[in-house]
Formats: sequence, C-alpha cells, structure tokens
Amino acid sequence: MNTGVFLFYAALVLWVPLFVWSIRSRNWIPFFAYGAIFALILNGRYVVEGMAGGIMFFTGIFDVVSHIGAGDDAAALVPCVDNACTVLTGYETHPSWAVAFYDRFVGGPGGRVALLYGHIIFNTIALVTATIQVFRPGGTHAGHAMIGRVSVVAVVVSLTCAGLLTSELVEVQAYGHLWTTFGLYFLALTALVPVGIGVVAIRRGDSERHRVWMWRYVGAIWGAYWIFRAEMMLIDLLVKDMEGLTLAIPSWTAGLIGIALADLVRRRVDRAKSHGVGAVRPVAAE
Ligand code: HEM
Repeated sequence: MNTGVFLFYAALVLWVPLFVWSIRSRNWIPFFAYGAIFALILNGRYVVEGMAGGIMFFTGIFDVVSHIGAGDDAAALVPCVDNACTVLTGYETHPSWAVAFYDRFVGGPGGRVALLYGHIIFNTIALVTATIQVFRPGGTHAGHAMIGRVSVVAVVVSLTCAGLLTSELVEVQAYGHLWTTFGLYFLALTALVPVGIGVVAIRRGDSERHRVWMWRYVGAIWGAYWIFRAEMMLIDLLVKDMEGLTLAIPSWTAGLIGIALADLVRRRVDRAKSHGVGAVRPVAAE
C-alpha cells in the first residue's frame, strides 16, 4: 500500500481513542486540534503536490474502502485512462465519482482548477480559524474579533468558489447530478445561515446568541468536511452497485449532522466549564 494512504488510515484510527477520551474528560480541545491539523495536512497536499497529485491521493483512499467486499467489476467501479487517477495502481477500477473528479480537474480548464484551489485553501482557513474561535471566546481572548473577520471572509470566498463549481455538476452523472447539485447548495447554506446569524447577533451586542450560532457554524463546517467524507467512506464500503449516492447523501445530511453534534459538544463544554474544567480568565472586551 502507498505510504501516504497507510498513514492516512493509521491517523484516522488514532483519532478514535482521542474522541473517546474527549467524551469522558469533556475536554474537546485535543480532539478538535487533531482534526484541524489532519485537515490542514490532507488539504495541503493539493498545494504541495499539485491538483493531479492531490486527487490521485484522494482516489487512493477511497480505492481501499470501495474494493472491500467487491471485485474489480462492481457497477460503481470504473477504470480510468492509463490507470492514472490513483496512487494505488494495484486497483484497476475506482469509484466512478473519483474518476469523474479526476477528469474534471486534470486537463480541465484552468479557471475550474483555480476555483477548486480557492475553495480548498479558503475553506481550510475557515475551518481552522473558526475552530480556534469557539475555544478562545471574545471578551476572554485577545485577537478574537480579528480572527473572526478573517474566518468569515475566508468562508464567503471559499463558498463562492464552491458555488461556481457546483453550478457545473448537473451534467456529472457519477456525482448524482441534480440531487448532488442542490444538495451541495443546501450544504453551503447550512454553514452560511449560522455564520450570518452569528455575525448579526454580535453586531447587535448579543454575545450569547453569537456564541451559540458560531458553534453551530463550526459544526456545519466540520460536518461539510469530516462528516461528509466519513459518510462517503461508509457508502463506498456498503454500496457497490449504484453510483451517485456517495456524494448525494452526504451533501444533504453532513451539515445538519454537524450542527446537531456541535450543539451537543457545546453543552458538554459549557457544563465542564461550570465545573471548572478549562476555565478562562476574562480580559478587556474587544
Ligand atoms: C460548506 C460547504 C461546502 C461545499 C458546498 C463544498 C463544495 C465542494 C465542491 C463543489 C467541490 C468540488 C467538486 C467538483 O467540482 O468536482 C469540493 C471539493 C473539495 N472541498 Fe468542499 N465544500 C464545502 C466544504 C468544504 C470544507 C469545509 C472543506 C475544507 C476544510 C472543503 C474542502 C474540499 C476539498 C479538499 C475538496 C477536494 C476533494 C477532497 O480532497 O476532499 N470543502 N467541495
């Protein structure tokens, strides 16, 4: 197996005990820090290795799960030209959505590639900064307002790029065409609505409402990244004979699941704080 793909699965497995520890200790900072750094490394590959290398790695990750319990000829698996779309060339077929993803960007128009870079870079900035923000609340941590502005601008730029890319997807059968197209617009709304409400709340001086909606926004962003990809893996593991579901189902569900989980985590963090875990000293409000 390719070393990078092996390390990806090893890092995923190591995250599980951290999750269990966070539930028990009610200290979520190490869990979120791990996930943010993990996303930074994965998404950084697109910048370091180039678009083709990033997509080949992504396909390799899914080659593993999609071949568990399936031969090379399952209906949702297809070959790609010269078997060039993956880092795991031992597999001769790949999830059809991954082959379509490779074809869209490798040899695709430069503007499309630039939009994907814009989306990946700015949404990674948004994910990392928004996560830092909920654990360093305003009024208790210097720089909160400035990092918050960076985060909001980043998510707006990123989702503008994503929206433009999504407008092309009706044609892409392997992605789940209309279902996924509108699902991705819905996913973008699950992040934009909470962040919009959060911004309006703080401008009106309602810091508690701001805090609650920004947690939901962080949940949506984490949902759109981590829960989306976890659902994709589960679907590729379980569904071998139907294409389109891998992107269609997460696009409608990942953001909402993220928001619901963020509410649960926020309540646990609040309860832990009221018992003195991770208490912070206030500084002058910004
Ligand atoms: C919030 C809603 C989101 C929407 C609507 C969205 C939409 C999209 C679209 C349309 C694509 C390209 C598919 C194509 O054109 O063929 C894409 C790919 C990608 N997006 Fe997003 N995205 C969202 C959130 C995020 C977040 C939060 C991150 C990172 C922190 C992210 C990182 C990526 C990456 C890295 C890819 C390339 C595939 C991969 O390696 O995962 N996206 N997204």
